Amino acid sequence: MKLAIAGKGGVGKTTLAGILARLFGKDGYSVIAIDADPDMNLASSIGIKEDPTPIIGLKKLIEERAGLKGGIYNLNPKVDDIVDEYGAEGPDNVKLLVMGAVKKGGTGCYCPESAFLRALMRHMIMKRKEVLIMDMEAGIEHLGRGTAQNVDLMLVVVEPSKRSIETAERVKRLSQDVGIKDVFAVGNKISHNEEEEFIKEGLSDVGIPLLGKIPFDQNLMKSDMEGESLLDAYPNSDIIKAIDEVRERLINYCK
Ligand SMILES: Nc1ncnc2c1ncn2[C@@H]1O[C@H](COP(=O)(O)OP(=O)(O)O)[C@@H](O)[C@H]1O
Ligand SMILES: [Mg+2]
Repeated sequence: MKLAIAGKGGVGKTTLAGILARLFGKDGYSVIAIDADPDMNLASSIGIKEDPTPIIGLKKLIEERAGLKGGIYNLNPKVDDIVDEYGAEGPDNVKLLVMGAVKKGGTGCYCPESAFLRALMRHMIMKRKEVLIMDMEAGIEHLGRGTAQNVDLMLVVVEPSKRSIETAERVKRLSQDVGIKDVFAVGNKISHNEEEEFIKEGLSDVGIPLLGKIPFDQNLMKSDMEGESLLDAYPNSDIIKAIDEVRERLINYCK
C-alpha cells in the first residue's frame, strides 16, 4: 500500500503519518515512512530521537550519481541502496527516510538534487514491497506523473477551518492532475459536534469523502513536551484509537 498524506500546514499530517506508520508496523507490516515535507519532523512523531541525515544533504553521492555529465543530468541515477544505507530504523519495524528541502532554482530547474529525489521516490513507489507512507507538504512535489499513478491513495488532512478545506480542494486537483486514483480526507482536531459538521459540509461541497475523524487531544502536546511520541507516552489516547480505525479502513479499502 502506497499512501501520500497532504494538507495545509499545521493540520496534523505529520502526527497522522507517524502514528499510522507505527500502527501498520505493530500489525506486522514492514513500513517505510518518508518525510518529504521541508519542515521535517516525522522522526519525532515516529519516536526516533536522533534526526536522520536528509538525503538532500548527501551532496557528493548525489553529484556522483545524478550530476551533470556531458551537458545532461542523469535522470535515472542508482537509488536502490539508499533506504538500507541511509534510512533510520524506528520502532515497530518502521524505517524512515528524510528527503530534505530542495532549494528552488528557476522554473523548470532540473538540478541533480531534485532528479535524485524524484528517482528515489519512483523507486520506493514502483519497486519496494513495504507499506509506504509519505508525509508531504501542501503541494505534492517529488511525485512525477508516471510515479503518482502508482500511489494508491492520497489522504488529505483537514481541521475545522475554511482554509484547510480550500487546501484540500487544491490537493485533490493536483492529485488528479498527476493521476493519483483516490483522494480521501481525514478530519483532525475535532472537539465539538459543530466542528465535525463543519468539516463534513465543507468536504461534501468540494467532493472529498471523509475516511476518518480524529479528536483534539491534549495528550499530544504533553507527549511533545515530554519529547516522546504519543504512541509511547499515551498509547491509549483517543487519537491513537481514531488513527487505528483509519488504518483498518485503509486496509479494507485496498484489499
Ligand atoms: N488531534 C490533535 N489534537 C491536538 N493537537 C494536535 C492534533 N493534531 C495535531 N496537533 C498539534 O498540531 C500541531 C501541528 O501538527 P503536525 O502533525 O505537525 O501538522 P502538519 O504536519 O500538518 O504541519 C502540532 O503541535 C501537533 O501536536
Ligand atoms: Mg508536518
